Amino acid sequence: MTMRTDLLIDGTWRGGSDGDRIPVLDPATGEELAVVAAGTPADAVAACDAAAEAQRLWAATAPRVRAEVLRSCWENLVDHTDELGDLITREHGKPLADAKGEVAYAAEFFRWNAEEAVRIRGSISEAPAGTNKIIVRHPPMGVVVIVTPWNFPAAMITRKLAPALAAGNACVIKPPKETPLTALRVGDLLGEAGLPPGLVNIVPTLDSGSWFDAAVDHHATRMVSFTGSTEVGRVLLRRSADRVLKTVMELGGNAPFIVFDDADLDAAVEGAMVAKMRHSAETCTAANRFYAEAGVAAAFTAKLGEAMAAVKVGSGLDDGVSCGPMINRDAVESIDSLVGQAVAAGASATVGGSPIDGPGFFYQPTVLGNVRPDSPITRHEIFGPVAPVIPFTDTETMIAQANDTEMGLAAYVYTADIGRGLQVSERLESGMVGLNRGAVSDPAAPFGGMKQSGLGREGSTEGIYEFTETQYIATNW
Ligand code: SIN
Repeated sequence: MTMRTDLLIDGTWRGGSDGDRIPVLDPATGEELAVVAAGTPADAVAACDAAAEAQRLWAATAPRVRAEVLRSCWENLVDHTDELGDLITREHGKPLADAKGEVAYAAEFFRWNAEEAVRIRGSISEAPAGTNKIIVRHPPMGVVVIVTPWNFPAAMITRKLAPALAAGNACVIKPPKETPLTALRVGDLLGEAGLPPGLVNIVPTLDSGSWFDAAVDHHATRMVSFTGSTEVGRVLLRRSADRVLKTVMELGGNAPFIVFDDADLDAAVEGAMVAKMRHSAETCTAANRFYAEAGVAAAFTAKLGEAMAAVKVGSGLDDGVSCGPMINRDAVESIDSLVGQAVAAGASATVGGSPIDGPGFFYQPTVLGNVRPDSPITRHEIFGPVAPVIPFTDTETMIAQANDTEMGLAAYVYTADIGRGLQVSERLESGMVGLNRGAVSDPAAPFGGMKQSGLGREGSTEGIYEFTETQYIATNW
């Protein structure tokens, strides 16, 4: 395994300008895995300078050539699935199968956007007055600042990076301090695949605020793309407003998972396990509140309990483990506090309900029955292996409760009546709905949220246009 532990700026590896290092922990043991160079504001500026220089040539490179480089990036990431999967599991903790799945997902953004790079469409039309033509084109933004979370150490970078590069931009990336190793190795592999130096600069830091200020204030920066909490997103939006930067924000979620009486219960439980537990239950799209119609609430809770009780928790490197550690001790404490509040308000933990002792940061897969609709756990993103089940009798009331949140990222509906499923889906204030499906993520689909879950979309044919300007030329000929 190759571990890169320095900053990647202008295609070269260098230490941070004040010599600080970031300890990276293995969350399965709490032990130090590596120390990584910590970037300073001056390093962020150097990265923006390098990106600005590289971007000029890249923007002038033929789309077909850009597409071919991106396709090589896809191939090289796929060729390193085992190595990257191993690295993701070591620094994030998720089971190896999920980690390798993440590599395939991450790489796919390069293949998809290699195909999109040659299909950025403008238009030409007649001005209604008949006086001239209206030509519309989509040039790149310039330098894009990318800030990513720890829950998908590879894919949350590539979902932004691949369309940004396809459209002709250069990027400066701040990976999270918890999982910088995967980010740095991804940058390395993209260089090996033929991506010119300076287009991808990766600068982890211990001082996110000053780093971001420096990157945002750089004259060449034109855009910020962020995935993370709504709370941090608001701060970055305010700061980006100082330079009127374009922003794409993928923020927090609070997904309802709705099971109607007529649903195929086994399929609903299987979908619930995917929606709740994929990637150790640390996803923004994770089912956060399970609304089960009264006729199936008890059976659904029991079957979900059996499935959760069968989950093997442990180091993601061990065979058969399907739930790894949480990212750190604070995460375990926050999950436990939400469970405690739900139980104090009358819910019962039918399975689990406690942290797991020992080294590492583990929480028991937990099902909470009879949760009150207004319990704090229904209002907060759990980001852990806890499934609160809320029985319902009236569909209108349930839809109102499902929508009674400032978040609107993902939602899930299970019913045998596809007409009802579509009607309910249309009324849910969520950017993405899984109808009889527990996973919504797909590089070919527009990922993003309504309300305070975000701005803009990533993936699909829409994703690449987020990284472009729109220029219109009023033309006489
Ligand atoms: C996220 O948790 O932010 C991303 C989830 C996904 O892409 O599936």
